[in-house]
Amino acid sequence: LFSGVEQAPPDAILGLTEQFKADTNPRKVNLGVGVYQDANGKLPLLRCVEAAEQRMVATPTAKGYQAIDGLPTYDTEVKELVFGAGSPLLAAGRVITAQALGGTGALKLGADLLRQVSPEAKVLISNPSWENHQALFTRAGFTVEKYRYYDAQTKGVDVDGMIADLRAAAPGTIVVLHACCHNPTGYDLAPADWQRVIDAVVDGHLTAFLDMAYQGFAQGIEEDGAVVRAFAERVGSFLVSTSFSKSFSLYGERVGALSVVCADAAEAARVLSQLKIVIRTNYSNPPTHGAAIVETVLGDPELRAQWVEELGQMRDRIKQMRTALVEGLVAAGVQGREYITDQVGMFSFSGLTKEQMQRLRSEYAVYGTDTGRICVAALNEGNIAYVSESIAAVLKD
Ligand code: LMR
Repeated sequence: LFSGVEQAPPDAILGLTEQFKADTNPRKVNLGVGVYQDANGKLPLLRCVEAAEQRMVATPTAKGYQAIDGLPTYDTEVKELVFGAGSPLLAAGRVITAQALGGTGALKLGADLLRQVSPEAKVLISNPSWENHQALFTRAGFTVEKYRYYDAQTKGVDVDGMIADLRAAAPGTIVVLHACCHNPTGYDLAPADWQRVIDAVVDGHLTAFLDMAYQGFAQGIEEDGAVVRAFAERVGSFLVSTSFSKSFSLYGERVGALSVVCADAAEAARVLSQLKIVIRTNYSNPPTHGAAIVETVLGDPELRAQWVEELGQMRDRIKQMRTALVEGLVAAGVQGREYITDQVGMFSFSGLTKEQMQRLRSEYAVYGTDTGRICVAALNEGNIAYVSESIAAVLKD
């Protein structure tokens, strides 16, 4: 049966983690996957998460099936976080939110739903984009193409190129947009640029799918959420995928959500009924634990305030690491990398070639993706000099 099955290449991001774990070099540093580590190089357990879990242990519950679309109180909390508690869309019953298996699970639910609704549509992703966007939408049956995004010359976003590509897209085209902390480049659109994107979406009758995996890592929860609210003001129907992997440091719990904005409450009810079939035929209903943690934190003013503070600390430490990396590179003899501090979120697009990234890995055990992306959220005082020297070494020859 499987004799003709070909060996697939390792995953461009998670495959690096497997390789990293097997690496015996004591100086190894994993800047591949987008995972935040604290100043001691440890994956943090947020205090708000620990407190929520303690409450849950104190009042143990049996583990019944959840509703197909997840924990209702979680879905409501997420909706209010993403769209704002006072959103007229919520008041009008136009938004459905379903718990999903992380941000990736949310994207796949959305992709499967859209494939059913718009089987002929093409998908446009940014050039470059998170590797899994291409794979996920292709697997869902779509033809995936790219819109211009990163401009290597100016070290920023090619906004005019992006807008031109969106304006050239056929009506109904699904446009995947990084709501904040663009992965992999770290360059986001300015608010005025977002308005131009929204103009193109509205004028061209495009379907926007906002991937919000890093809310709170650019400027703050509210500030980063402004993009969704800008769409809510002007776009009739769109989708948002939410991830709490990074913002709650709940990677392994697979906790996220898909929100779909519909024309009215009746349409929303019909869309939810179809989304439930997508969920039921994939994994029946989502797991309980991660969503219960997030729901407990978001629903409790004290824990929520603690979360906002802890998220702010992660964001600030990443910013410090950006500055430290620029300084470390200068100390190692590499000038002109100030743009690293212009980037936001967990990643820096280092400008290194595939060959240089591979040498970094094989000769120095410093792991980043082949595209030149490094996770600055995994840098710390203990590894930054070594990383800087290793980058300098591969840049020299
Ligand atoms: C990343 O881009 O490294 C993260 O989003 C983790 C993943 O699933 O790829």
